[in-house]
Amino acid sequence: MIILKRSKDCYEFLRALKGNKSIGFVPTMGALHEGHLSLIKSSMYDCNITVCSIFVNPTQFNNPDDLENYPSTIEQDVSLLEATGCDILFLPDAYEIYPDNLEVKVPDVQLDELGTVMEGAKRPGHFDGVLQVVNRLLQITIPDRLYMGQKDFQQQLIISRLLKTYYKDIVLVTIPTAREKDGLAMSSRNKRLDKEWRQKAPTIFESLNLIASGLPTVNIDPLIQKALDKLSGQNFVVEYIEVADSDTLLSLKKVSEKDKIIICTAVYAGEIRLIDNILWPENAFQST
Ligand code: PAF
Repeated sequence: MIILKRSKDCYEFLRALKGNKSIGFVPTMGALHEGHLSLIKSSMYDCNITVCSIFVNPTQFNNPDDLENYPSTIEQDVSLLEATGCDILFLPDAYEIYPDNLEVKVPDVQLDELGTVMEGAKRPGHFDGVLQVVNRLLQITIPDRLYMGQKDFQQQLIISRLLKTYYKDIVLVTIPTAREKDGLAMSSRNKRLDKEWRQKAPTIFESLNLIASGLPTVNIDPLIQKALDKLSGQNFVVEYIEVADSDTLLSLKKVSEKDKIIICTAVYAGEIRLIDNILWPENAFQST
């Protein structure tokens, strides 16, 4: 695996291949787990060259403690990428992404409610930071295909708007959430859970399934209440639990057989904020 730390080197290297080789790009913030590796493997399957980036982007953290405590396991990440067969690791420092002499703008993208509900409401500025960094990374890595995880469902919908606006030739591929055996969605933040919270953490996925098992319904509220009771019974602090249309993310009060929905939640397990979601019906979502 080639490791490139300079934006210019990465761009020039890929520019020389572009056209002859298809390029798949997997942006990450490191602390890699099986979920990330499934994105890498999909890219390797589809594309001639797979590029992974590791950059903990400061502009998307609305909470300084979260940034400070974000896990970093770079040596292990490099070994995992090498063992998986990733071709290129782009490993920039903050200066390479946000150089003093370059104004790295937040791209102007029409987000509608996608930007203001759920994560958008609870993490002010978060999606601006994500748009800013992904836009810059796409300019450096010039991929044909971009790989993102379903776990960050709202993020991948927002990035799909970015692609539709500025990068019509890049295909977004959304990969289903990788889960631990007990159902917990894989996340870099899981590394911060203590033993007790780790044991309780499958409740998050169970609560989403509890809602799905009651669908379709003419009244979603009692199902949401059951899920809330289940989570708060285990001392999770629930930021939101929503049943929403999987295209618009608008919240639904009733669900019919024809609807394609996403059930999303964000909870605090002590200090650690975790998110998860499931689609209903299963596999309803088609990536663009
Ligand atoms: O999902 C993530 O890890 C990040 O939001 C991303 C897409 C790498 C941008 O920093």
